[in-house]
Amino acid sequence: MRFLNDHFRRALILENPHPSLDEYLREQGIEPERLPETATQDVGFVLERLREGQHDLLFKRSRFEVDDAVLEASQKLAAVMLCCIGDDSVDKDACARHGVLVMNDPVSNGRSVAEMVMGEMIGLARRLFHANEAGRQHLWTKDSLGRYELKGKVLSVIGLGNIGKQVAQLAEGFGMHIRFFDTAEVAREVGVALGWTPCKTLAEAFREADVVSLHLSAEDNRGQSNRDTITYELFSQLAQARPDNSPRLFLNAARGFLYDPDELQRAIEEGHVRAAAIDVFPDEPGSKKEEWNNPYAHLTDVVTTPHIGAATEEAQPRIAAHIAGTTRLFNVYGTVRDTVFAPRQVIGVDAEAPYWALTVVHSDARGTKKALSDAIYEAGANNIQSSHRDIPKYGIAYDVSAIDRPLSEAQLGDLVERARRISGDEAAVRALRQFEVR
Ligand SMILES: NC(=O)c1ccc[n+]([C@@H]2O[C@H](COP(=O)([O-])OP(=O)(O)OC[C@H]3O[C@@H](n4cnc5c(N)ncnc54)[C@H](O)[C@@H]3O)[C@@H](O)[C@H]2O)c1
Repeated sequence: MRFLNDHFRRALILENPHPSLDEYLREQGIEPERLPETATQDVGFVLERLREGQHDLLFKRSRFEVDDAVLEASQKLAAVMLCCIGDDSVDKDACARHGVLVMNDPVSNGRSVAEMVMGEMIGLARRLFHANEAGRQHLWTKDSLGRYELKGKVLSVIGLGNIGKQVAQLAEGFGMHIRFFDTAEVAREVGVALGWTPCKTLAEAFREADVVSLHLSAEDNRGQSNRDTITYELFSQLAQARPDNSPRLFLNAARGFLYDPDELQRAIEEGHVRAAAIDVFPDEPGSKKEEWNNPYAHLTDVVTTPHIGAATEEAQPRIAAHIAGTTRLFNVYGTVRDTVFAPRQVIGVDAEAPYWALTVVHSDARGTKKALSDAIYEAGANNIQSSHRDIPKYGIAYDVSAIDRPLSEAQLGDLVERARRISGDEAAVRALRQFEVR
C-alpha cells in the first residue's frame, strides 16, 4: 500500500523529453532530476536513483521499460507520465497492482507524424528519394516512369484514430479518395461522417488501395496486442482491385511489431508492394550510440527513418506543456486525465476550494468503494463531492473525494483496514493521498 506525498516533491526524468518540462515542474514545487539519455540503458542505475530519491513521478518517453522492479524502487511513486502516446513500454498490469497510474499525451504529436507521413507519401510516389540518391552519384535521371501524382489515388488508412484521421484529412486535401479500416464503432462513425469509405476487412483495405498507411495502436480495443496483425497475405493483396499501374505504396509510422519485416521484404521483392516508408521497427536501439541492424538496409525501395514521426521542434515543447498540465491537475486537484487505463476520460471533482482531497487507487473488489465511503462518514467528515471510475480491465478503480476536513492518520489506517475486511482483498487499497486544495 502506498501512502503518497501530500503534494508531489520529486520527479525523475528519463529519455530526454523537452527541457521546458523541468521549469514547468519547478513552478509546481516539484524538483526534477533529469538523467542523461544514456542512463536509460543502465537499468541498475535508474533503480538506484529511484531508491535513493523516492520520486513521486517518473517522466519518460517510449523506450525505458517500467516493470515491477521500477515500481518497487520508489514507494512514493504515484504515476508514470509518458511524454509520448505509446504505452507499450509500461507493464500496465504491474502498475495497477502497485496503484501507480499511467498517463500519456494522446494529442500533441499527431500533427508531426501526419505531416511526415504525407511528405513520405509524396516522396515515394514521385521517386524523390531515388532521384536524390542518383544525384549524389552525378546521375541525371530525368524521366516520368513510375512517378505518380497523389490526386485521384485511393488511400487506405488502417486505424482511424488521432493520427490516422489527420493523415486522411491531409490526403483528402491532395485529392486522394479515403478508405479506412477501424474496429472501433466511434472511429467508424467519425470516418463515415467525414465522407470516407469504411472497409469491412483488412484484406479489403489493402486490395482497394493504391497507398496503405498504418496507424494502429499497439493494442486493439480489447487490450489484445496488435503484434503481427499485418501479414504477407495482406501485403501481397495491395492494390489488386486497382489499375495495373497503381503506385502500390506502404507506410508505417505506428509500431514496428505490427508485422514481421521479413513478410514486408518478401512482398517488396515479389513486387506486390512497390515502395515503402518505415519509421518504426520491432527492435529499436535505446539511444543514438547503440548499434542498429536495419532490416531494410539492402532494399532500395524502402525508405527508413529512426522513429522520428513525433520528433519536431514544435511537438516536443507542446508535449512538455501538455504533460505538465496533466501533472498539475493530478498534483493540485487529484484530477486524472489521459490515463491509459481509461482513455479520453477525466476523473476528478469541481468542488469550490478550499477543501481536502482524498484520492485512492483501489481494487474493484466488491465492498471496497463502500469501505471508503463508510470510513469518511465514520471519521465525521462531510463528503462534498466525489468522482469514481472503475477500470475493470485492470481490476482497479480511481476515486477522488472532496471532503471538508482531513482524516487523521489513524482514520486513514482504518479506511485501509476496513476495505481489506469488507472486500476480503488484502491489497484492496493500493495507493492513498490526502491534501488540501486551496
Ligand atoms: N512514429 C512516431 O513517432 C509515432 C508518434 C506518435 C504515435 N505513434 C504511433 O501511432 C499509432 C497511432 O497513434 P494514435 O494516437 O492515432 O492512436 P489512437 O489510439 O488514437 O488510434 C488508433 C486507432 O486504431 C484502432 N485500432 C486499434 N487496433 C485495431 C485493430 N486491431 N483493428 C482495427 N482498428 C484498430 C483504434 O480503434 C483507434 O481508432 C500508435 O501506434 C502510436 O504508438 C508513432
